[in-house]
Amino acid sequence: MTGLVLRGVTRDFSEPTDRHVLRGIDLAIAPGEFVSLVGPSGSGKTTLLRIIAGLDTPDAGSVTWQAERRPRFGAVFQEPRLVPWLSILDNLLLVTGPDWRERARALLNAVELAGNEDALPGQLSGGMQRRAALARALLVEPEFLMLDEPLISLDSALAERMRQLLNNYWRERRTTTLLVTHNLAEAAELSTRILILSPSEGRLTADCALPPPDPRLRNDRAVSAVLEDLRRMTQAWPRPDPPEARDPLSRAS
Ligand SMILES: Nc1ncnc2c1ncn2[C@@H]1O[C@H](COP(=O)(O)OP(=O)(O)OP(=O)(O)O)[C@@H](O)[C@H]1O
Ligand SMILES: [Mg+2]
Repeated sequence: MTGLVLRGVTRDFSEPTDRHVLRGIDLAIAPGEFVSLVGPSGSGKTTLLRIIAGLDTPDAGSVTWQAERRPRFGAVFQEPRLVPWLSILDNLLLVTGPDWRERARALLNAVELAGNEDALPGQLSGGMQRRAALARALLVEPEFLMLDEPLISLDSALAERMRQLLNNYWRERRTTTLLVTHNLAEAAELSTRILILSPSEGRLTADCALPPPDPRLRNDRAVSAVLEDLRRMTQAWPRPDPPEARDPLSRAS
């Protein structure tokens, strides 16, 4: 478990147009927290994760780990980032070496990919590839887990089983976790804390603590009250068009 502190993290992009994406983000994540970051498309969630992971550099501000060394990371990025010419099992073993074969197989089983160990990434659906990336992230027994919309494109029953997996994993290990999601209900089910990133300001506009995400302890009324507040804050965000409006065939008729 590892904590971190962000001070004044700012990120601007000038190409293709000037964009002030993150404006002086101050945030402390304590060891063992499960934090969900919620914000509309384009609000800077992935940019913030990339800065925390050291894949991007802020224009101002700092990221400080509360540890003597950079923690062991597990990450699911928005694209699964599997090596296309390696089998799913070899993609997992790439980060650990062959001694972890049994554990890798067990994790592939846990994400419901048993039987796909020898498949190439291109032979799997997007949702399957993302679950393989999740198994790879958990395989290293991370001290800090970053998940960028890991359950998108899964059917609702499978997404619920994967949420249970993440919840069990966190309750057993208390791995410090930062999850990006558009789904407030998902955030409420899994997190000890929910952050809202404002679409226009580039700042965190809400920071809500929740009771521990343990199905036995969860006080439903407390969670509903927090969720209701957050829903009110986010209801003005742009929503995706309904599928009919985007379907050129339906428009032509
Ligand atoms: N390398 C880059 N160069 C230029 N602009 C960038 C770059 N990376 C991100 N941006 C811009 O920064 C803004 C935030 O992008 P980001 O990917 O962080 O959003 P997001 O909140 O993760 O969105 P989504 O929910 O769609 O994944 C967007 O306007 C995007 O176009
Ligand atoms: Mg993103």
